[in-house]
Amino acid sequence: MVKDDLKKIVDDAKAAFASVKDKLALNAHKANFLGKKGPLAAIMAQMKSLSVEEKKELGMLSNVAKKEMEDAYLAKLDELNEEEINKKLMEETIDVTLPGYSFNQGSIHPLNEIVMELEDLFIGMGYEVAEGPEIETDEYCFEKLNLPKGHPARDMQDTFYINPEVLLRSQTSPVQARTMELKKGEPIKIICPGKVYRRDADDATHSHQFMQCEGLVLGEDITFANLKGALLEVAHKMFGEKNEIRLRPSFFPFTEPSVEVDVSCSKCGGKGCSMCKGTGWIEVLGAGMVNNQVLEMSGYDPKKIQGFAFGIGVERVAILKNGIDDIRNFYINDVRFLREFKEVK
Ligand code: DAH
Repeated sequence: MVKDDLKKIVDDAKAAFASVKDKLALNAHKANFLGKKGPLAAIMAQMKSLSVEEKKELGMLSNVAKKEMEDAYLAKLDELNEEEINKKLMEETIDVTLPGYSFNQGSIHPLNEIVMELEDLFIGMGYEVAEGPEIETDEYCFEKLNLPKGHPARDMQDTFYINPEVLLRSQTSPVQARTMELKKGEPIKIICPGKVYRRDADDATHSHQFMQCEGLVLGEDITFANLKGALLEVAHKMFGEKNEIRLRPSFFPFTEPSVEVDVSCSKCGGKGCSMCKGTGWIEVLGAGMVNNQVLEMSGYDPKKIQGFAFGIGVERVAILKNGIDDIRNFYINDVRFLREFKEVK
């Protein structure tokens, strides 16, 4: 009887599927029992010689048998897959006693640290923080600051030219002229920290790129005394409350009168040491009352409004505060150097 044959095939297939230990063997049995050369296919091949009725019955029976074998195959496949996952999970248990991964956390660059301190101080005194382009025009970098072409003071600030009229700014002072034009005769109280460039050969005290923090205060009653007060605040905040300042006459084309500002040496307290080269004083910035020419060139009436400007050397402050002996340390990104300034929180 065909029915018995089919039952035997199904039972054999189920037994074969049940006996396997892996998917390879399972698939081999599947091919044997359900493939074109398998026993089911052989029975189906006999159909040709049967009557319509018999064909119908055999067709139905073989479909049932096929379905039963496929179900048995799929059930075993599920079982094997689950075994595989469980085995993996067992093998991959996590040892929570192993040390964790360490990761490196960055820190604020010592120069940015100084800039942030300066911003903090000046914002507290009512200043705004302004910005200007590092690629600047000759007009703003020099001419509007009373340094016409051929002026001897330009020699000290030779920089990188993109073309005869466009250059990398050699100072943050052009932001003075830019801000004045923006504010159109109104009072001003800004600082502008930023990068500047000069055509200098790099050594322990020179760098072709460094930072300045410009300051500009314009108003109706701004006097030299206000400048001195602001500078004293800077000295106290950056170097310590006991520090004094000393103003020496100097020259800048954009200020008149101009001064060079020294801070008393915080290492020796003014007695004289190697850091201050025995003088007791250290130069940190240039400043002065804004030159009338500069005011006029940017649309201000010097009879109504005047004020002061200053330019702080950011590296200089960082070097003095931290006792650094080579300016290049700031730029070579040696993490051992940078780590020295990392605040441990
Ligand atoms: N720009 C000057 C320099 O780079 C520094 C400076 C001096 C800026 C006096 C000022 C100032 O605003 O009033 O050497």
